[in-house]
Amino acid sequence: MDEFKVRQGELFCEEVPVSRLAKTYGTPLYAYSRNTLISHFEKIQSAFGELSPLICYSIKANSNLSILAELAAQGAGMDIVSGGELVRAQTVGVHAERIVYAGVGKTREEIAAALKAEILMFNVESEPELRRINQVAAQLKRIARVALRINPDVDAQTHHYITTGTKENKFGLSIPMAVGLFNEAKKLKHIQAVGVHMHIGSQITSVTPYLQAIKRLAGLLADLRNAGHKIDYFNMGGGLGIIYNEEKPQTADAFAKAVVPLLKPLGCKLILEPGRFIVGNAGILVTSVQYVKRGHVKSFVIVDAGMNDLIRPSLYHAFHQILPVKKSRSARTVLCDVVGPICESSDFLGKDRHLPELEEGDVLAVRSTGAYGMAMASNYNSRCRAAEVLVSGPKVTLIRRRETMEDVMAAELKGVKKFGK
Ligand code: LLP
Repeated sequence: MDEFKVRQGELFCEEVPVSRLAKTYGTPLYAYSRNTLISHFEKIQSAFGELSPLICYSIKANSNLSILAELAAQGAGMDIVSGGELVRAQTVGVHAERIVYAGVGKTREEIAAALKAEILMFNVESEPELRRINQVAAQLKRIARVALRINPDVDAQTHHYITTGTKENKFGLSIPMAVGLFNEAKKLKHIQAVGVHMHIGSQITSVTPYLQAIKRLAGLLADLRNAGHKIDYFNMGGGLGIIYNEEKPQTADAFAKAVVPLLKPLGCKLILEPGRFIVGNAGILVTSVQYVKRGHVKSFVIVDAGMNDLIRPSLYHAFHQILPVKKSRSARTVLCDVVGPICESSDFLGKDRHLPELEEGDVLAVRSTGAYGMAMASNYNSRCRAAEVLVSGPKVTLIRRRETMEDVMAAELKGVKKFGK
């Protein structure tokens, strides 16, 4: 459920017509519904209520500071994957003991920053990483709490680019390797191994792969405990799928009902790392039609948002619903590709869509773009990144101003010479 509703032919974000947002803030524009954001967070919280999990929102899905601040105010912790994300979490005042840190390539500097911040734990992805964390912690005279990320070799049945828990993937440690590494961790003076972590992929619409993975990790946990390791945390990662088109993901309640019976007997503090589930359907990308170009087989609706604003269709062939924010004057529909201004054939937001006849200036909404939309935006083709607004009831807040070319060139301008001068 989200709060983008069509009322009398007009799309609203909570109580604000999207056409008004476009007029006031220009396009391309990301618009988020605060109620949707918060209610999705609460859905997970209440579904898993019995286990009082630590919900670490996965910053990478949408790292806008105002979004982070809203979630932090609800009690969310954060899942980070870089020193940059640590800075974002700190900027909005997330308590360090609610921060977990995954990722296969943590640098020494990033590890040091996280140790100094005293985060809850690192999710360690390899043997050399564990040794590096131990070294950096020794230099800083600290003890690093870690969970080992386990790669359970389970196919999450999602797009292969966002599958992370099979043995072909770069993530985590196989179960036999993990046993050896827990033993090694015990000997490392500056490491305290306190948990196991998994994250098997993203946009997962069935609970089955989770059940398989949890069972494998539960077996490992029993072996570890038998061998004298004290494991206090079980981190189930993120990955819960949402509805983009005709997917039928389980609700948070149904999901929890299926996994809690496996998690409860483990006697661990549960950590969850949802990203998309919280923010995906809380955002839309608003874009204006520039041209309608009639081709031989179909029309091209050329809009002012491109793959630099939303790369998911180009990168994963992801489907996002596209609809005019105001009911069209004409009842006729036209077969079209909705494409951006970028010089690549992969620059499309939607292919083979049946949309009402459109003309220059019409405004469209690209739905379910709250997760991995703005977060993956770039300046390709020297395009300024979009503005972002957060809507709460009738209230609209600009949470990121539109970039200017000055912003885009800032890191290059110093010392640049003008040709001929
Ligand atoms: N935890 C870890 C360790 C992760 O790597 C991720 C996402 C999450 C949690 C959150 O996953 P979520 O609940 O959002 O599915 N750009 C892709 C998705 C990449 C996901 C990367 N890792 C997309 O647009 O579909």
